[in-house]
Amino acid sequence: MPVTDFALPEKYRYLNGFGSYIETEAVEGALPVGQNSPQKPAYGLYAEKLSGTAFTAPRSENKQSWLYRIVPACSVSQFSPESEAASSPASSPTLRYLPDQFRWNPFAPPSKPTDFVDGMQQVAGAGDPTLKQGLGVFVYAANKSMDANTAFYSSDGDLLIVPQHGALDIRTELGWLLVRPLEICVIPRGVRYQVHLPQSPENHGQAEARGYCLELYQGHFQLPELGPIGSNGLANARDFQVPVAAFDDAEATYTIRTKMNHRLYHATQDHTPFDVVAWHGTFYPYKYDLGRFNVIGSISYDHPDPSIFTVLTAPSEHVGTAVADFVIFPPRWLVGENTFRPPWYHRNTMSEYMGLLAGAYDAKRAGAGGFVPGGASLHNTMSGHGPDGPSYEGARNEPQPQQPAKVGTGSCAFMFETCLMLGVTPWALEAKLGETGSATVLQQDYVTHSWGKLPRYWKRPEGGIKSHLL
Ligand SMILES: [Fe+2]
Repeated sequence: MPVTDFALPEKYRYLNGFGSYIETEAVEGALPVGQNSPQKPAYGLYAEKLSGTAFTAPRSENKQSWLYRIVPACSVSQFSPESEAASSPASSPTLRYLPDQFRWNPFAPPSKPTDFVDGMQQVAGAGDPTLKQGLGVFVYAANKSMDANTAFYSSDGDLLIVPQHGALDIRTELGWLLVRPLEICVIPRGVRYQVHLPQSPENHGQAEARGYCLELYQGHFQLPELGPIGSNGLANARDFQVPVAAFDDAEATYTIRTKMNHRLYHATQDHTPFDVVAWHGTFYPYKYDLGRFNVIGSISYDHPDPSIFTVLTAPSEHVGTAVADFVIFPPRWLVGENTFRPPWYHRNTMSEYMGLLAGAYDAKRAGAGGFVPGGASLHNTMSGHGPDGPSYEGARNEPQPQQPAKVGTGSCAFMFETCLMLGVTPWALEAKLGETGSATVLQQDYVTHSWGKLPRYWKRPEGGIKSHLL
């Protein structure tokens, strides 16, 4: 079956479908029939609406859910700002817009107990959450679960989480999701959640997690149009999994943390936020197993544009131009004849941030100093890039006739692509390997190592050269 063979088995029930209208109740009869806000909801619950779009957004874009809960979210103390030093993603990043190509070694695990929220660091970004424009690119590294009586939500945008190492057991207001490496999830803006690090065979029973995130300040992810591909292919809608309602009715004091315009705040409340007994609607978290992606490619010649590998897209106002595409390079067959099979050299108006979840990527040198799992690269607007020298040489010299070849077995690279110019944070430019290493995480020799001494294959023709002059 085209599914990932996960080391950590699934433990939750889900409902399936992308963008479906979902209804789920943990207690029979908790969902009202035929109306959203009865005078007295069943079981003494409160009805609360959670909107992800303007009330008046067109039906095709409208996202909202009705929650039936024990105490509504408005019952909370005043929020206090957290100190910038204590909260890593909190400081408003001063982004630097640079024309160079960048590649990072894997970011180090934290040296002290750190949960998912404090373990997030912004690497790059564009736009402004206050204007609901643009996106942020983050990495996270955590070694402990969030405190049992703490929940977090982002006011800035929908968060796409791409785990690279260690599973995330995520409790949300709308239910639980187990998200393992080679799965992704999206937590919508405003949905409160708590990230636990389960012990997993993959991390030898240690509570460890590392991965990448894209926060979308603008709009929501959707499936890409399929055009001539037809009605199925790439990520199929039925493979997206949505949590079922699950709640807690214990009386407890909770700390609620939020990120608003890059800054962290916290407040307290005398009730759990995980008290939603039933909900229905279109605004909810979901997850997806990348192993289910139906890879489409050329079966004649030439490497197609990487847009063929798009899992999720967040469109801009301009048709066909994405604020954010999430693209993957999973195991696949290459069969093109008389073809340079890896990606070609290119310069794009789009900006490309890439990461590697496992294995080796077919257009880049693997191993230390190369493009390695947990590392990343950034090729910003119009930065030239492509295969490194050895990868080019190897693909150029594939013997004729070229044979079908499977690439990427045990591997998956991904790309966050955006139509915006990405600025890089000072942290990403200066991050060190922590207490144990002396080398910087940013690879200083990426460009010279990859393309500094590309051989010249050019042979000046003996038969003369056409003049451009009249
Ligand atoms: Fe590229």
